[in-house]
Amino acid sequence: MSTANKKLSSARLTQPTDKFVEEFTASVMFDQRMFRQDIRGSIAHATMLSEVGVLTGEERDQIIKGLQQIEQEIENGDFEWSIAQEDVHMNIEARLISLIGEVGKKLHTGRSRNDQVATDVRLYLRDMIAPIRSELNRLQDALLEVAEREADTIMPGFTHLQTAQPVTFGHHMLAWYEMLVRDAERLDDCEKRVNTMPLGAAALAGTTFPIDRAMTANLLGFDRICQNSLDAVSDRDFAIEFNSFASILMMHLSRFSEELIIWSSAQFDYVDLGDAFCTGSSIMPQKKNPDVPELIRGKTSRVYGNMFNLLTLMKNQPLAYNKDNQEDKEPLFDTIDTLLGSLRVYADMMSAISVKADNMRESALRGYATATDLADYLVRKGTPFRDAHEVVGLSVAYGLKHKKDLSAMSLEELQQFSSQIEADVFDVLTLEGSVAARNHLGGTAPEQVRAAIKRARSSRS
Ligand code: ARG
Repeated sequence: MSTANKKLSSARLTQPTDKFVEEFTASVMFDQRMFRQDIRGSIAHATMLSEVGVLTGEERDQIIKGLQQIEQEIENGDFEWSIAQEDVHMNIEARLISLIGEVGKKLHTGRSRNDQVATDVRLYLRDMIAPIRSELNRLQDALLEVAEREADTIMPGFTHLQTAQPVTFGHHMLAWYEMLVRDAERLDDCEKRVNTMPLGAAALAGTTFPIDRAMTANLLGFDRICQNSLDAVSDRDFAIEFNSFASILMMHLSRFSEELIIWSSAQFDYVDLGDAFCTGSSIMPQKKNPDVPELIRGKTSRVYGNMFNLLTLMKNQPLAYNKDNQEDKEPLFDTIDTLLGSLRVYADMMSAISVKADNMRESALRGYATATDLADYLVRKGTPFRDAHEVVGLSVAYGLKHKKDLSAMSLEELQQFSSQIEADVFDVLTLEGSVAARNHLGGTAPEQVRAAIKRARSSRS
């Protein structure tokens, strides 16, 4: 990166900036990724300036042509970024002036880097929300597909990670799906506030030129305009809000990951994640490690860290713009990258997952998962719930002693604990009977799983 070009903002200073300070204060190393948004913003600004008579049509055309050429140069890797020009904005402006001469110097009329950078960050984030939403949707679709395939597959449902009641694997997948629905809603909601335009606030107080902010907003596809110039240049709450959406989503992915890691252990052996999503060990030949979910669980901490970073960045800043705000970009970009990568690999992984239904079933049978069903059965026969609870507790103790599941006991064995138990008890003691009986909205019955998938698909299309 060169430091050769003449600085755009240094006339007031009589001494050159210290070399290290120049590097220390520069942001071009990380904000150059916003070059498209910076150019788009400048083109809209120049267009508006010509409409209100601050630039001539010819000046506007020269500026736009220059900016388009610069965009090409950057796309082609032919652009020389310079630390001396500090950031993406001044690098592009300096290049514009070297390309088209004096006219290039007019672009910054009625604008400041303060409203420019706030606009660029919002445009960049808006551009990245689109692929994030589509990866999130792809993951949702993958979950619906697994849920549909496994609507009848029975696994133990857990509380305290102890076998509680049987559930269908499809139902379990839909629990994750629901979390993602809320995440998608949070993203939509956050996007409204991201898509609000600061441009026109200039340095902090607005500008003396007769700008038309509605026109610029329209050209840039902003739905709303920041209503106060001081607020427009200074707040980064939209970035914090996005990061908070991202933190909650990563928390969900981390929970999913934890389950996948447990389920792919030899002790559980409920799922196969597919070799493409696992790695071997350099020393233990038998290993197949669930690296992808582990790494996503780990990456959740980065996103939380970025959240704390952004909140702390803002907490003591007086109005309006402060250089502190340059520090918003790296955590925000890191969150965007982490989220996009995590969603992408998750969607792929869930499309490839295979389920070991026999192992799940066997494990549900081992844990007295239908004990509640027996208690409910007794209540229906007239036993008060507390007494029923005790009868079942005694039956389970008997089963543990004789190594027998409730459904494997004879009618006589069960009747030792309650005379109200009859032959129809076996309908509720089977895993299939147990899940099928929970047949109401939000319940685990296969019929409900299918209905929920249908609802989900119709609300998404
Ligand atoms: N690189 C700066 C940032 O990221 C751009 C705005 C600089 N404005 C200023 N007055 N120094 O925030």
